[in-house]
Amino acid sequence: MPAHIAIIMDGNGRFAEGKGLPRLEGHKLGAQSVQSVTRECRRLGVKALTLYAFSAQNWSRPAAEVAGLMELLESYLVGEREELTGNDIRLQTIGQTEMLPDSVQEALAETKRLTEHCRSMTLTLALSYDSRQEIANAAQKLAMSGTKVTQASLSQMLSTATLPPVDLMIRTSGEQRISNFLLWELAYSELYFTETPWPEFREADLLTAIESYGARERRFGMTSAQIENEGKK
Ligand code: FPP
Repeated sequence: MPAHIAIIMDGNGRFAEGKGLPRLEGHKLGAQSVQSVTRECRRLGVKALTLYAFSAQNWSRPAAEVAGLMELLESYLVGEREELTGNDIRLQTIGQTEMLPDSVQEALAETKRLTEHCRSMTLTLALSYDSRQEIANAAQKLAMSGTKVTQASLSQMLSTATLPPVDLMIRTSGEQRISNFLLWELAYSELYFTETPWPEFREADLLTAIESYGARERRFGMTSAQIENEGKK
């Protein structure tokens, strides 16, 4: 079982357009997939789930779509409080959340506060997130403090520092790109791409992705024989 799963939730817009619906309807169905997948990860014992909910580049979308996404996010943050606390899931965020509308920031702060004590799983939403910017900021902070820049010190400066390494990264809807998501953290992750659009990605699809992960050999640069010997120790 992967300890940490990260997901690029792609294809909401195309899914809706394909059905002759407004793009926002795709995002609404996508929010339902967020609920299903979060619940299933918790049931399976996954320790961390990180979702790419809004990239820094997504601010350039049409204003109505951005506003709709922000409303959806706010109602999700308020509506999921009981579900999160009831399942012992802590909510946290990465990204420039100070860019979000005040009402979303307030909803976020309250949901974080209410779930602060939860320990069974950490749900991280990447919001207004830009991975290259985050790495640059971390390097800048180290430089300013006079700390030597090493892999360890830089990792410690990232907002994902307390999370386990990402074991599995899933991207839905056919595109095979990383799109500025967790560039540092994905160094040794297994990548899984599926044609299924995010609004249709539910429990069974998650299990298929985890099965694919389970069938892979993670060598971290070593040989198969070395990995086998490690397992026997
Ligand atoms: C990508 O699909 C998805 C997004 C930019 C937003 C993701 C948002 C949600 C899943 C719902 C709200 C989030 C939460 C946490 C409740 P796209 O619009 O880029 O799809 P396309 O590539 O088909 O246009």
